[in-house]
Amino acid sequence: MRIVIFYSSTYNGNTLKIAESIAVTLSADLITIETKISDFDLSQYDLIGISSAIHFGQHAIRLQRFVSALPLQGKNIFIFSTRCRPFLGNYHRTLKNIIKQKKTHLIDEFSCVGFDRTSPWVLIVSFHMPIPTAICTNNSRQFSGN
Ligand SMILES: Cc1cc2nc3c(=O)[nH]c(=O)nc-3n(C[C@H](O)[C@H](O)[C@H](O)COP(=O)(O)O)c2cc1C
Repeated sequence: MRIVIFYSSTYNGNTLKIAESIAVTLSADLITIETKISDFDLSQYDLIGISSAIHFGQHAIRLQRFVSALPLQGKNIFIFSTRCRPFLGNYHRTLKNIIKQKKTHLIDEFSCVGFDRTSPWVLIVSFHMPIPTAICTNNSRQFSGN
């Protein structure tokens, strides 16, 4: 099975670190959304991972635009994110709606907290947190295994 993971990771490399961990476990190709869509052949992949930070309650807008332009019809998809808040909430809903409209199959989703200094949550959970923690990367490997 050929697997590709698309990622956007602009703030601190948090999402990239999780994406790398999952890519190693799944032997997946890892492609930044800075890549031109015409530069890769999506038809060769059986499973597609899509990931970014959560920005203002949803996946990063640039990732959403990138995904909207991908020919995803009929593909098996998993999505993941990193965030600063300790609880996920409904942050994956917008991206899920985009991929649902493309008649894909959402296999699973994953999210974890990354190092962050952009909100008051740092006072509670992230102030001393490495980028992201070993627990997060371990959880992402378990997610890949499932
Ligand atoms: C502009 C901006 C907006 C953010 N909005 C949220 C948010 O709404 N909820 C949240 O939990 N984290 C939010 N964060 C924190 C990021 O999701 C978190 O730091 C993430 O791990 C960064 O990933 P990256 O290093 O891969 O870009 C925001 C960060 C930035 C820079």
